[in-house]
Amino acid sequence: MERKKILFVCLGNICRSPLAEAIFKHKLKQRGIEDQFEVDSCGTANYHIGDPPDTRTIANAQRQGITIDHIGRQLQPIDLDYYDLIVAMDKSNLANIFKLQYKEEQIGKITLMREYDPLQNGEEVPDPYYGGEKGFQTVFEILDRSTEALIDKLTSK
Ligand code: 4NP
Repeated sequence: MERKKILFVCLGNICRSPLAEAIFKHKLKQRGIEDQFEVDSCGTANYHIGDPPDTRTIANAQRQGITIDHIGRQLQPIDLDYYDLIVAMDKSNLANIFKLQYKEEQIGKITLMREYDPLQNGEEVPDPYYGGEKGFQTVFEILDRSTEALIDKLTSK
């Protein structure tokens, strides 16, 4: 069976998108369906290429039993071809994606993370980088419920 390829996108690829990737993979494992997906994350900026995730993201995730294993990379035009679903964390990331050369048929697979948030109390996953610890927990909770709903959607017949 062809694996579904999912790419999470934020700005730096050290806070939100690597956490989305880690939580998504964790949930796939819990459901025993990790073989059905290929999951990665990247940033639209080049600031953190080759960097591990932010230590605050790692620590917060660890407290919830999630291990993050990722090295920062920047979004490339080829990603828009390769992945089946490209999930941006906020509208500015979305705008950055559309600055790349994209094809008409790729538009439909580019979406926002909070499109899947069952609470729908915001349109964006807020950037926690310049804020305090609380922001990292807020991001975790948004991503936890949004990725859960996304997996439900992708696995429903
Ligand atoms: P992320 O957060 O996009 O969730 O990884 C950020 C990380 C780094 C920067 C901005 C946002 N930065 O400006 O370096």
